[in-house]
Amino acid sequence: MTGQPVPVIIDCDTGVDDALALLFAVRHPGIDLRAVTCVAGNTDVDGVVRNTLTVLEQAGAPEIPVGRGAERPLIEPVRTARHVHGVDGMGDIGLPAPTRAPADVDAVTLLRREILASPRPVTLVPTAPLTNIALLLRTHPDVVRNIERIVFMGGAVATGNATAVAEFNVWHDPEAAAVLLTAGVPITMYGLDVFQRVVVPGADVRRLRASAEPGTRLAGELLAHRPSSPDPDSGETSGGLGDAGAVCSVADPAGITTSLLPVEVSLAPGPTRGQTIVDRRARPGESEIHEGAREQPLVDVALDVDVPRFVKLWLSAVERQ
Ligand code: RIB
Ligand code: CA
Repeated sequence: MTGQPVPVIIDCDTGVDDALALLFAVRHPGIDLRAVTCVAGNTDVDGVVRNTLTVLEQAGAPEIPVGRGAERPLIEPVRTARHVHGVDGMGDIGLPAPTRAPADVDAVTLLRREILASPRPVTLVPTAPLTNIALLLRTHPDVVRNIERIVFMGGAVATGNATAVAEFNVWHDPEAAAVLLTAGVPITMYGLDVFQRVVVPGADVRRLRASAEPGTRLAGELLAHRPSSPDPDSGETSGGLGDAGAVCSVADPAGITTSLLPVEVSLAPGPTRGQTIVDRRARPGESEIHEGAREQPLVDVALDVDVPRFVKLWLSAVERQ
């Protein structure tokens, strides 16, 4: 780390936990959020744009450009997660409509413009289906020369959520995820295995919700919408940081433990479609012995996370008096 803020672009489907990620990105001094792009996922893309603008406004963020992206995946139809994120995608907590407007260019154009305009290589943080990222890489492959790393929230080493084996962002657009993995830049997979563990204790959630500061209070309301198992001692409902953990890992890479592993996305129709197959074997198996090794992208897969470290990091950045 040079000590200078890391140039970051987030591609999101805001989304309760995408909002927690945005709040952290605009308030942490080590992150220079240069643009935000929106894609259909948790809700429809226009709802994502609206929610993203609202969060940036509530946080008192600078006028960061927000681009509207893909309305649906490359192949699949839109299959939202409104049952998790509410009808409006923001937990139906009744936020006011934004006064800010989106950029006058689409997401892919904005991504290319802001990536190439950055004075230092950009860390791209998708926290959503990867449709915009795939379209970017296929339309403007030259952008990779100014991408430091892609840290994506997606996939799972072990258990899925959209299906038994597939995580929602990858399941929603498996082909796009497969394109991402062959981007030719360093990739970190922040999957469900770590995503689900980073939880803010109930007492902290309660304190945030009582704050007079709009961005802090919003953070508390959003966390309350992501209830995790009640704290054993206080019995208070804690809240999962979800996507925000991926951005925390950009500000503090030492907070996660990764291993460089072969990863591929199952594209076949059926029960494994959208699964991220992470090969953790110590040696080749009979498949490679009899049929030869297959070319597979190598990805820095997050296998562990320092939960208290990220909770403290996120609270110290987001909570304002
Ligand atoms: O599977 C969890 C992911 O899907 C998160 O990014 C959540 O916001 C949804 O997009
Ligand atoms: Ca998301």
